[in-house]
Amino acid sequence: METLAPAANVKSKLSEFLTRESREVLAVASDIAKEQGCALYVAGGFVRNLILGLRSSDVDLVVEGDAIAIGKALEDRFGGTVIVHRKFLSAKWDLPATLGDSTGLRTIDLVTARSEYYQRPSSFPEVKPTSLIVDLKRRDFTINALAICLTDHRFGELYDYYGGLDDIRLGNVRVLHSESFMDDATRMVRAVRLEQRLGFALTPNTAELIHRALPLLGKMSGDRIRNELDVVFREPVPERILKRLRELGILRAIAPSLEEYEQDWVTVRFERARAVVPPSVLIDMYFGIWLYQMSAGAVTRICRRLNMGRGFADVIRDAVKLSNRELDIVGYERPSELASLFDGKSDSELQLMALAAKRDGLRDIVDIYLREIREVTPITTGNDLRRAGLKPGPHYKEVLNKLRYAWLDGEINSAEEEKIFLQILLSHKA
Ligand code: CTP
Repeated sequence: METLAPAANVKSKLSEFLTRESREVLAVASDIAKEQGCALYVAGGFVRNLILGLRSSDVDLVVEGDAIAIGKALEDRFGGTVIVHRKFLSAKWDLPATLGDSTGLRTIDLVTARSEYYQRPSSFPEVKPTSLIVDLKRRDFTINALAICLTDHRFGELYDYYGGLDDIRLGNVRVLHSESFMDDATRMVRAVRLEQRLGFALTPNTAELIHRALPLLGKMSGDRIRNELDVVFREPVPERILKRLRELGILRAIAPSLEEYEQDWVTVRFERARAVVPPSVLIDMYFGIWLYQMSAGAVTRICRRLNMGRGFADVIRDAVKLSNRELDIVGYERPSELASLFDGKSDSELQLMALAAKRDGLRDIVDIYLREIREVTPITTGNDLRRAGLKPGPHYKEVLNKLRYAWLDGEINSAEEEKIFLQILLSHKA
């Protein structure tokens, strides 16, 4: 198949970036492509990052042959899991953990060089096998449309059909063609994400094309947008991306309520969250902080638009409700007052409130509650109350809470004292 002359040779840089194990994996993939009579290329973000001197954990391989067969062969040889997408002539191979460690790679996407025809804007494309040059053309930005050959003596040959190298040097995010955002509206968010992550700038024409394509975002499914925002929140400094998305009108186009936040307020709290929240819950915390200042109506509208599920909306709404009592919380005098405010709240709610709160002291107070108050329980149980002749009902909780509060406030200090306290409570009930 056609291949124009390579623009450069990056063999030594590529070798420097690949561990011995990743070279071995790629050599196996390349050998299978050769048996199919085809060359194998690495393309997309990996190449862009390599030129910038950055490492990638995902590799995007393109073959002008059968990508699915290569994916399966890699799974047979090295283990891991391959997921096949027949419709897209592609496969995604998750490397087994040990190989992931030695290669520094998590997944390898294998695609059959293909062209895509979008029948309607933002619909799923029709897919046809084709050559590398056409495959690269269907991609989003010039900086993502470079490819390096991995086969034999051509190992390291870099192909730049669309001016990607110049755009990397100039720091440009430029669409490959004027229909790019029409084909896939999520690319608007991708453009901003790359721009902010790499310190690049959208070219004026790309910014104009975003402006024209904004109405498409209103029609995009909540799940797709939420996925794209999740990826934004995996970036090192997502608040910058939010700021730029707002500036370009992208947030408004997704849902007008998404603009109802104060940038500086969010920035300070995102920084704080990064310092203290474990990575596993950071994305949810970012979302929570972002929506925290908004009205209950706005939170409901956004959760509905992004298909976030009721649980998530409830956590945010409850945390906001609790935040309206910041003064009571900060001014608490007895531990039982904190217990009555915080009991029954989930960890996520408490953590969100502690992070988003206006008053700094609140974080320490939530800490005290979690460390010293939450786990304190009386010795008496519901069964004991039943044995003492109290009829089951909501007052069980009331009595047990009174005992708990008395322990917390130092009014009870021993089992004996609890017994006496209980007798007094029960005599009032009698
Ligand atoms: N791509 C595209 N349009 C999209 C998504 C992806 O054209 N909506 C193409 C781009 O060429 C991209 C490649 O598919 O480089 C791989 O996509 P992905 O792994 O999502 O992005 P990366 O460019 O690798 O970026 P990142 O560093 O964020 O992973």
